[in-house]
Amino acid sequence: MEKGTILVTGGAGFIGSHTAVELIEAGYRVVIVDDLSNSQESVIEAIAEITHTPVDFYEVDCTDKEALNELFFKHKFNAVIHFAAFKAVGESVENPLMYYHNNLLSLINILELMVEHEVMNIVFSSSATVYGEPDELPVTEATPTKPAHSPYGKTKQMAEDIIRDSARAYPGLRAILLRYFNPFGAHPSGLIGELPRGVPNNLVPFITQTAVGIRKELSIFGGDYHTPDGSAIRDYIDVVDLAQAHVVAMERMRSGVGKSACEVFNIGTGQGLSVLELVHQFERATGVKVPYRVVERRAGDVEQIWADTSLAANELGWKATRSTDQTLRAAWAWEKHLRGVK
Ligand code: UD1
Repeated sequence: MEKGTILVTGGAGFIGSHTAVELIEAGYRVVIVDDLSNSQESVIEAIAEITHTPVDFYEVDCTDKEALNELFFKHKFNAVIHFAAFKAVGESVENPLMYYHNNLLSLINILELMVEHEVMNIVFSSSATVYGEPDELPVTEATPTKPAHSPYGKTKQMAEDIIRDSARAYPGLRAILLRYFNPFGAHPSGLIGELPRGVPNNLVPFITQTAVGIRKELSIFGGDYHTPDGSAIRDYIDVVDLAQAHVVAMERMRSGVGKSACEVFNIGTGQGLSVLELVHQFERATGVKVPYRVVERRAGDVEQIWADTSLAANELGWKATRSTDQTLRAAWAWEKHLRGVK
């Protein structure tokens, strides 16, 4: 049974690819656009292999409105899930115009085309980065946002504002903003996972690359935070759990439930884990040692943040279900697969 066609921008990326799989398995038809600037076409084949379903894929940059317009004419989309964006915090500080241009123009093009073609539902990938260093923990969706530290973070805040204003202005337009905490892991099939370019920015790919021997040691950024063990605390969410949150968001839009035209949900586990705890948990879950050294704090990092996920539980009926151990083992299996290690 087909439930409708969804345009997934950035669908060859880490979160986009896992979401495409979950959508197809839930009965949606998926059309992926991706410029492959930080992903590979082989991911599309992997999605087709996992789901036993051919996937419509277009190599399109979402800043190219004409190319997108053709797709809106060609396919009758019922909704858009907009992932396509640059996401490296440090790079955004060095090249802010690239980030504002790409992340904001893509979104504006998508929204304009949605209004023009009367595609009235959008799910947007936002981030816990909008909370900055929060004054209260855990953060709820009502926790005030703080000025972001990086142009990347600012694009997420601006994008939320652009979508909120649009949902207010254009009758019938509905949006769900999902604020992701720290996604990690890989698909249990072992066919898709995170593909960081060059030196990873994020913690878990750094841990797995160190464990597999590509990197000599892991640097733990900061041992003097006001946390029980001195390292920073985050809320690490399994990427398949996260992908499933998009499916329930889609179901909510389809069924017309919803308290306002633009809703926001935290997508995390509700549990804070320190960097040191995560490293030790990885070692226990996989039996592999990770050499590490505690170094200076990384500029722009917040000390601690984790989610209150009760709104997603109550309204979407969504909760993270996978254990940290299970997800760390999936991340490790993926890293070994990438490196051809048994
Ligand atoms: C960052 C962004 C977030 C974005 C996410 C995914 C900010 C403030 N954060 O999250 O918006 O959605 O990336 O790209 O904009 N760490 C180490 N050693 C390492 C790498 C990381 O100790 O080699 C530590 C970090 O200092 C941090 C934790 O691990 O305390 C998680 O870091 P990371 O995976 O980069 O995610 P965030 O910075 O939380």
